[in-house]
Amino acid sequence: MTETMPPIRPIRITSGGQVPLADIVGRSDTISAWWEDLDRTSLRLNEPRRLGKTTALHKMASAPRPGWLAAHTTMEGRTTTVDLVNHALRDLQRRAGNPAVFGEVQGRLRRARIKQIKVEVKGVGIQVDADSTPETSFDSLVRVLHETARVLTERHKRLLLIWDEFPDAIRAIAEKEGRGAAADMMAAFRGLREAESTGSIRWILCGSIGFHHVLRELRSGFATIDDLGVTTLGPLTADWSRWLAACLLRALDPRDTGAAAPWLADASDGIPYILELMVKTIAQGAAQPADARAAGRLLVSAATGPLTEGLPLLERVSRFYGDTAPLANTILDRLAEAPRTPAELVRGLRTTGMNADVIDRVIELLTYDHYIRRDGSSDLLTWTYPSLMTIWRARRGRLT
Ligand SMILES: Nc1ncnc2c1ncn2[C@@H]1O[C@H](COP(=O)(O)OP(=O)(O)OP(=O)(O)O)[C@@H](O)[C@H]1O
Ligand SMILES: [Mg+2]
Repeated sequence: MTETMPPIRPIRITSGGQVPLADIVGRSDTISAWWEDLDRTSLRLNEPRRLGKTTALHKMASAPRPGWLAAHTTMEGRTTTVDLVNHALRDLQRRAGNPAVFGEVQGRLRRARIKQIKVEVKGVGIQVDADSTPETSFDSLVRVLHETARVLTERHKRLLLIWDEFPDAIRAIAEKEGRGAAADMMAAFRGLREAESTGSIRWILCGSIGFHHVLRELRSGFATIDDLGVTTLGPLTADWSRWLAACLLRALDPRDTGAAAPWLADASDGIPYILELMVKTIAQGAAQPADARAAGRLLVSAATGPLTEGLPLLERVSRFYGDTAPLANTILDRLAEAPRTPAELVRGLRTTGMNADVIDRVIELLTYDHYIRRDGSSDLLTWTYPSLMTIWRARRGRLT
């Protein structure tokens, strides 16, 4: 651990819930890099589930860079276009942290007598006419954002809209209103970003389901998101995951010396959720690991014990790979035995009569989902996170 790390203090496990701001660990370098990227472009972020996306974005929005306002909202539970747009409008007012900007936006809209939009102030939110058609409602959003951009530019400010679980909402809209409606929505948002290309408003679109799954289901290409910069989060650094491990152990026992912290941190690959799962298993009576092997065994108990209800880390395969889920499972199994090149995988699967193009496509999806990665020089495919591979092996059969 480096000298710059803060002193160890007890941090209680939140596992799955919203972490109090003061207990959000690390991520500062990544957040700085995101702010820099946002100078040029809006972004999309996709990582395995529970890696810490929402937590990092929460930290980012809580302390915007000078000159920026930020609003972080989840689109989870939005199932219609009107619902999503109205939610975005309400949230814009409620969370963007600067009522003056939105007060002025509303004033301008009223002065312009934009009656068909019927934007009203209701307490803390903007209410769009409940009878609006989807088109009218989307127009309202465009108009409000456009006015907002103008006010922001005059005040030399910029606005970051972080829309979490956005792909999930698009998928829900496709289910309820049809693929066409969802694809139109994606295209409309693309147009909106283009219209705001001066940079007063930027977006981070984040989701536990990657756009690659959603767009595949919509049978539409990447054209509606090809303007977005692709960004990643990755695990906590080794220093921060060891620090967090020591703090979680300290919360279990005020006399804990943190001796097991490095083993826990290494076994978790810096994924805080896995770290917490392991510490919870210790809280339930498991021994603290004294070496890497013991940490590996603890991870297996954590992944298969009673705490794993809803362990969501690897559920994408069964949910989103459709007909190719069995193939994806087999590929993950083979790569859990040993790294292999795509050609070796295709050769090994030939007896199953599987088409090489389909295999390549599934490899691509597994790569987009960050389950596996391809080494540029050797062309070998491996699991990205050994801890996820261990959990996969331990839970195989229950996940599929
Ligand atoms: N930086 C962090 N510091 C401390 N704990 C964290 C951090 N990031 C994540 N966690 C822990 O991991 C859990 C999962 O994190 P989070 O909800 O941010 O992941 P996610 O990637 O948004 O997951 P999902 O894909 O399911 O939406 C949190 O509830 C928290 O317990
Ligand atoms: Mg999340």
